[in-house]
Amino acid sequence: MGSTEIDNHPFEGIVEGQLETGSILQDLFVKDPHPDKVNLLRGAYQADVGTPFVPPSTILAREKLFRDSSWHHDYLFFLGAQGLLKAGEELFFGPQSSAITSQLVASMQAVGATGAIHMGGRFLKDHYPAWKGSDHKIYLSKDTWVNHRNVFRTLDIQPIELPYYDPSTKSLNWTAFKDSIASLPTQSVVLLQTAAHNPTGCDPTPEQWKELIQIFLARRHFAFLDAAYLGLVSGDPDVDANTIRLFEAAGVPLLLAGTFGKSFGLYGERVGMLSVIAPSPEIKARMQKQMTLLARSETGSSPAFGARIVETVWGDEAIKKVWIKDVKGIADELRRRRQTLKDELARLGTPGKWDFLTQQVGMFSYLDFTPTQLEFLRTENHLYLDGNTRLSFAAINNDGITLVARGIDNMIRNKVE
Ligand SMILES: Cc1ncc(COP(=O)(O)O)c(C=O)c1O
Repeated sequence: MGSTEIDNHPFEGIVEGQLETGSILQDLFVKDPHPDKVNLLRGAYQADVGTPFVPPSTILAREKLFRDSSWHHDYLFFLGAQGLLKAGEELFFGPQSSAITSQLVASMQAVGATGAIHMGGRFLKDHYPAWKGSDHKIYLSKDTWVNHRNVFRTLDIQPIELPYYDPSTKSLNWTAFKDSIASLPTQSVVLLQTAAHNPTGCDPTPEQWKELIQIFLARRHFAFLDAAYLGLVSGDPDVDANTIRLFEAAGVPLLLAGTFGKSFGLYGERVGMLSVIAPSPEIKARMQKQMTLLARSETGSSPAFGARIVETVWGDEAIKKVWIKDVKGIADELRRRRQTLKDELARLGTPGKWDFLTQQVGMFSYLDFTPTQLEFLRTENHLYLDGNTRLSFAAINNDGITLVARGIDNMIRNKVE
């Protein structure tokens, strides 16, 4: 190969990708040799720190699957594993919902919730009438899962931020959030996280959700629902699915991007699904054909293993009971970790108000520290928190919590601001 060819390599001018701070910090964490370093970045639940958690129900389903001599590795149908889609529809919408009993849910399997959000964005771009001939805009909370923006930008859908978190109360700024949704153009597409808001840990109350639904109906908005942490707030998947069910029962036009990664411990198996509610069974059939085309062009066929695990859990009453206990166990433990950190800060007499730790829900809390404070925590105490100050309770146990409390106490007493 001549030197001119090397000089003219097509990727010669490739620019450096701008990774999110979380990815950069993750790398720094791995390289930090300090024995007391604590990783507060990861959003995957661990019971014992450093060991990925496999829920007992998933282990039982896996064993059952391995004993099944008819288990094969053929392609799944284009829309995905039928048992998985049935499980998901029942889980998210409730088996008695009118969407299910009237057979109005069109669903397809997706590569985790990330894939489902992507497929949902594509589905709307192709078929949502209010987006025809106009820019594609999706409204989402200013503080949101960092990857939402990436996924939508890839699709040339513009993410537009709505006010959500109030640093002065460390809770949801309900008035600003709802008013901003009420003042959007009619038929706007609004992304809502249905439970355990990532990264703030602040969810609307059931009463506030009901108020929001009235605004959606009045403004004819479209609800793009993201259900990632079902069951991990209350410990009961049915309770956490209530938001979805309220939207469905009220007749708000919606799609749902859901994942089984978090509540079945199947993160890396990439098990998710997209559901869209149709106005009639005939239109549902058309939607399913469009979804089939989407699936064909995007993934060919969905990954089967994780889907089979969920199907097996859902189809076996005994294993399903274990799963219900598993979800409750994770939710209880997340709450206990929150309480332990709050208690530990109280024990140390750390100046400041820490009640928000137990008022926020799910895997994450927003600490609302400044970049200087975060830097201090990392360099002085080897505590790795995301740049948006999200603390993940998913991957710290008691020792980690003690170190976190000590680090925060040290920082506050040193008056780092
Ligand atoms: C709110 C939210 N949506 C979607 C996802 C993506 O889930 P999955 O790993 O199934 O793609 C996450 C993961 O962290 C999330 O927090």
